[in-house]
Amino acid sequence: MDAPTKLNKILEREGFFNFYLVFGEGNLRFADWHLAVKNLPLRLKALVELFLLSIEVPSGLVIEILTKECVDVLLANKVISQFKLGFKSNSYILASHSGLNFFFQVSRNPSTYFGDDSIALSVFQSSRAKEKVLDLCSGSGIQAMKASLRAEKVDAVEISEEASSIAKLNCSMNGLGGKINIFNKDAVDFLAHSSGGYDLILFNPPLLPIPPQLNAAFVADGGSDGLALTSNIVSLGQERLNSEGIIQFIGTGLATDKNLLFLESVNDILLPSMSTRCALLSKHRIEEGGDFLERLVITACLYNNKPYGEVLDIFLNHYKSLNASFIYCYFLTIERNSNHKQTNHQIIDISKSHYGLWFV
Ligand SMILES: C[S@@+](CC[C@H](N)C(=O)[O-])C[C@H]1O[C@@H](n2cnc3c(N)ncnc32)[C@H](O)[C@@H]1O
Repeated sequence: MDAPTKLNKILEREGFFNFYLVFGEGNLRFADWHLAVKNLPLRLKALVELFLLSIEVPSGLVIEILTKECVDVLLANKVISQFKLGFKSNSYILASHSGLNFFFQVSRNPSTYFGDDSIALSVFQSSRAKEKVLDLCSGSGIQAMKASLRAEKVDAVEISEEASSIAKLNCSMNGLGGKINIFNKDAVDFLAHSSGGYDLILFNPPLLPIPPQLNAAFVADGGSDGLALTSNIVSLGQERLNSEGIIQFIGTGLATDKNLLFLESVNDILLPSMSTRCALLSKHRIEEGGDFLERLVITACLYNNKPYGEVLDIFLNHYKSLNASFIYCYFLTIERNSNHKQTNHQIIDISKSHYGLWFV
């Protein structure tokens, strides 16, 4: 048995994932973990401290529970580091979702991201048996792993070297290393210079519409309209679809009172043989105090070290210059029609019955 598989088995046997899943699939309930850890037996407490709470745990105890072989894999992948008294996570969290266990990083500028948008794409993606799947911007590898539960073969492409290593570790931990190929490459470069068709191309790109004057986390910055990478991927990806193959992705897009600007931009680059189905998941008015804008502004204040009022004005002026008054969270499917099918563009607006960002 290889070390990542062994690590997964030890963590299951010690009850780590049972503890995590008490709070729900793919949850990030730091406050609850902190409260619940107090009553745990010594070994499980040590694992929760190491893999959820980023607390230093004595080296001897960690090696006794996980074995030296598994600890070496975690050190080699920079999931944990050795300090004076023990081991501590490099802001990595170990989560579980859809029966898959995986590491990702929680920090202001994470190398290996996981969030609500990851859960959204994981839930909405529609892989089928015997499919060849391409997961672009693969991060922790969660989308590729989910797809591989049904698909025949999955290629995953991620630009960050650290995230690619973690994705490989995650795939091995779940016994999926043989089905998933991870390429540490630029997604656009991969599409332009590789060959072969896919039945499903998935991606969760950096997707936030960020004014050019402001910096944002690399994993989140989707350029001025949120479509910077998305447009390039759609443009090249559609050429790589097998007949009736689909591209599926999520995004946050700008809209006027009447027009979905993001959908118009995507439609402009589509080949005539493509059909689309856009699910509008949630709708957020661009106004001071609006939930979505508030999150963007507060994060940007921290990231750019600028005061709230100044950052708010930059966002409002930027969106105004694009005539946008709403931001949508959406899930878009683009299908390559077979010869007998007619092009069809559908919009399904479920935003009125959704109260969160991606879904409730
Ligand atoms: C929002 S995260 C999504 C990660 C993962 N797919 C998920 O759903 O959790 C976006 C990811 O895209 C990666 N990325 C950004 N630009 C890229 C590019 N040009 N080519 C490949 N990956 C890229 C980032 O490093 C990051 O891991």
